[in-house]
Amino acid sequence: MTNENERKRILVTGGAGFLGSHLIDRLIDKGDEVICADNLFTGSKDNIAHLLDHKRFEFIRHDVTSPLYVEVDKIYNLACPASPIHYQYDPVQTTKTCVHGAINMLGLAKRVKASILQASTSEVYGDPEVHPQTEDYWGKVNPIGIRSCYDEGKRCAESLFFDYWRQHNLQIKVVRIFNTYGPRMNPNDGRVVSNFVVQALRNEDITIYGDGQQTRSFCYVDDLIDVMVLMMNSPCDFTGPVNIGNPVEFTMLELAELVIKLTGSKSKLVFEPLPSDDPKLRQPDISLAKSNLGWEPRVCLEDGLKETIAYFKKTL
Ligand SMILES: NC(=O)c1ccc[n+]([C@@H]2O[C@H](COP(=O)([O-])OP(=O)(O)OC[C@H]3O[C@@H](n4cnc5c(N)ncnc54)[C@H](O)[C@@H]3O)[C@@H](O)[C@H]2O)c1
Repeated sequence: MTNENERKRILVTGGAGFLGSHLIDRLIDKGDEVICADNLFTGSKDNIAHLLDHKRFEFIRHDVTSPLYVEVDKIYNLACPASPIHYQYDPVQTTKTCVHGAINMLGLAKRVKASILQASTSEVYGDPEVHPQTEDYWGKVNPIGIRSCYDEGKRCAESLFFDYWRQHNLQIKVVRIFNTYGPRMNPNDGRVVSNFVVQALRNEDITIYGDGQQTRSFCYVDDLIDVMVLMMNSPCDFTGPVNIGNPVEFTMLELAELVIKLTGSKSKLVFEPLPSDDPKLRQPDISLAKSNLGWEPRVCLEDGLKETIAYFKKTL
């Protein structure tokens, strides 16, 4: 626990979402003061309900596409819908959130001399030709497709971060997050882990897109929060971008079978066509995070799924 003199005031945008709320829990546990700014588009007050009366926590209902004026030492910029269903609901707003949101938060960081971390994404690699993906791979992204609002929005945000660093000497950190799962995922956002778990718990058919041989790697939320905090507190000259995620790959079929086993479900598998631009392979190379941050994930898929299933059992 940090003592009062070392206590930092930290802004977390998107703090009422899945990752943001876990991050805030961690920062509050460390002894920091946290301001959570969120427009509650995909996030929920339920995720932060346990903190609303905490004396070191403050919630502001705010859309990052408008400027925000607060005095803080550090900013974690997470505000952005993360699942295709949500970011494709209003694609123009998604691009605005990524781009105007980044400009507003970078402007704030510049004004108050705060360090700022951007929650970027493995989607900046698009449908990659390099496997596993290293940070020096520039990606293969469709600039005009239905995923572009998110992929290109996040790419533009990264470019803005590096321009503020070069032009204004801002202390920036960029992490590229790969698929992460855990308690507090939104059950209706169509992401594969929550989809499978919810369908299995309801004994409904489990929907597999394509033939189920496409792979993903899944990182448990606690591991991800560890490395986000390590990255924020790393030496100034380490800006990233750094891949963070779990490199152990599973096919969608393997994931579905494991979920069925752990829930004891009677669900059957059904197959539907792959959505457009869906990447076939996605696996982080995390050598940079290992060498510069001394981090690697510790929670295996089976253990993480057990926690996630327990959460959904309680909330459904
Ligand atoms: N979870 C993952 O696997 C994953 C992977 C890659 C990147 N990311 C990134 O991490 C961040 C958090 O993702 P998450 O999984 O917690 O998603 P989430 O949808 O649960 O959280 C996003 C939060 O941002 C808020 N938000 C959206 N638009 C906003 C706006 N204009 N102004 C203010 N708040 C806004 C939402 O209400 C929500 O609380 C996102 O930036 C996402 O792109 C997540």
